Amino acid sequence: MINDLWYKNAVIYCLSVRTFMDADGDGIGDFAGLERRLDYLQGLGVTAVWLMPFQPSPKRDGGYDIADYYGVDPDYGSLGDFVAFTHAAKQRGLRVLIDLVVNHTSDRHRWFQSARADPDSPYRDWYVWSTEKPANADEGMVFPGVQETTWTWDDKAGAYYFHRFFDFQPDLNTANPAVQAEILKIMGFWIELGVSGFRMDAVPFVIAKKGADVKGAPVEQFDMLRDFREFLQWRKGDAIILAEANILPKQDLDYFGDDADRAHMMFNFQVNQATFYALAAHDARPLVKAIERTKPRPLSCQWGIFLRNHDELDLGRLTETQRATVFEKFGPEKGMQLYDRGIRRRFAPMLDGDPRRIRLAYSLMFTLPGTPVLRYGDEIGMGDDLGLKERDCARTPMQWTGEAQGGFTRSAKPAMPVIDHGPYGYAHVNVADQRHDKDSLLTWFSSVIRMRKEAPEIGWGDVTALPTGKAAVLALRYDWRSNAVLCVHNLGPGPVEVELETGIDPSEGGLLIDLLTGERSEADEAGRHCLFLEGYGYHWFRVGGLDALLRRTPT
Ligand code: NOJ
Repeated sequence: MINDLWYKNAVIYCLSVRTFMDADGDGIGDFAGLERRLDYLQGLGVTAVWLMPFQPSPKRDGGYDIADYYGVDPDYGSLGDFVAFTHAAKQRGLRVLIDLVVNHTSDRHRWFQSARADPDSPYRDWYVWSTEKPANADEGMVFPGVQETTWTWDDKAGAYYFHRFFDFQPDLNTANPAVQAEILKIMGFWIELGVSGFRMDAVPFVIAKKGADVKGAPVEQFDMLRDFREFLQWRKGDAIILAEANILPKQDLDYFGDDADRAHMMFNFQVNQATFYALAAHDARPLVKAIERTKPRPLSCQWGIFLRNHDELDLGRLTETQRATVFEKFGPEKGMQLYDRGIRRRFAPMLDGDPRRIRLAYSLMFTLPGTPVLRYGDEIGMGDDLGLKERDCARTPMQWTGEAQGGFTRSAKPAMPVIDHGPYGYAHVNVADQRHDKDSLLTWFSSVIRMRKEAPEIGWGDVTALPTGKAAVLALRYDWRSNAVLCVHNLGPGPVEVELETGIDPSEGGLLIDLLTGERSEADEAGRHCLFLEGYGYHWFRVGGLDALLRRTPT
């Protein structure tokens, strides 16, 4: 059955256990707290949860510095709590994805401790060393301005070690077969504990050739990705790899594999950045280009479509002028920007909390080709705390109620400060208030998620951008199994009228039915629809009338 490829039409919700819900009152979120909130997630309508790293870690990079791959950080509970959680998720039909961070370990990992202490350690070759300072030591930093080099001298080892990210994140020598075998073991371990796959961190770096002699553009070893996938499939047929790979469209097929034998899913960074430009400039044309450029992909592969995540909004793929437009609109102050290329804010404040623009943007996100990936708190329009350093500003705890600490914890001293003042403080922005309000963002999210589930054409279908004659209006038609859905978004503030040819013969599908309101539009004789959109308005239409739904081949 085609629905066996569950990820083609999932709704993924990303969260950090640390900041979601604290059950034991120590000020830090935990698995017991998360488990209590599974009914909330199910009610919202999401179908999968992606957990950021929760393994033992010094947490100098939000947990992306792992010190033991086979455990749960004591802050969050025990392995037993983890299994209780995955079981409870399964009972509710929710899948669990977890981060797989194997480009590097923490410098506190015992492998690195052993490797640096003894040249004869079996772990020495698990990392990347050089006795001389490599010529390119000052290049390729991922966090410019905060990270100074990619090779750091280690007194104990008497050598430089390579680290693509911070100096406390030594890169694993992923070309070493022993390291590859260990990566498979890690995947196999968590699969046994109930997860449905991995969001694989920093994939281009995991598979790149590493070493002091490596020069020029990265040389990826795609066989490695194929081996990970193959192993995963052997162990659990429906488990997936969702790759974090901010690459150019010309490389998409290398990462998916021509035969769909590498990553099942990848985040679409190209479309993400073009979406922000489209929203900032009220111009959908570069977004159409990004959609078209990233269109070729094997049928069983899928894009992860997102607006914001736990990192800065990376604008590095836009032209300089486009980037300047997005900065000006969404992050004009220096303190809102990060690493010269991005914006570190949460989504709602970028749009001045304007409900019309926020809904327009998420409606757009839910209708772009791929599977939507939401970030916790965005469903209630949470804000950020720019007083916190770097990316931490957008990682504050979930705001559940209007009570102390937003109901996140009973502790008066949460490990991460809850936003307690201003328009985004928990008194104004919280789940409890919004769930009783039929006009709230949260209520809107649940109905849009329901609508998205009723439009599997978006996940599976063939996408075509229809000419609208207006730069601010994007019209995407999805065709799948003799059914079609048409999504129209007006990115501009003013009302517009557009004439649209759906491209479908009026005798087959002259009727458009709005999935949200039930309103209808009938084509004229030439097959044209005259559509009116309010400023920031949107419509999701089923083409050809509701009976088209009934005609759909069972999945
Ligand atoms: C990408 C993650 O999203 C980011 O948060 C982290 O800092 C780096 N990879 C390093 O693991």
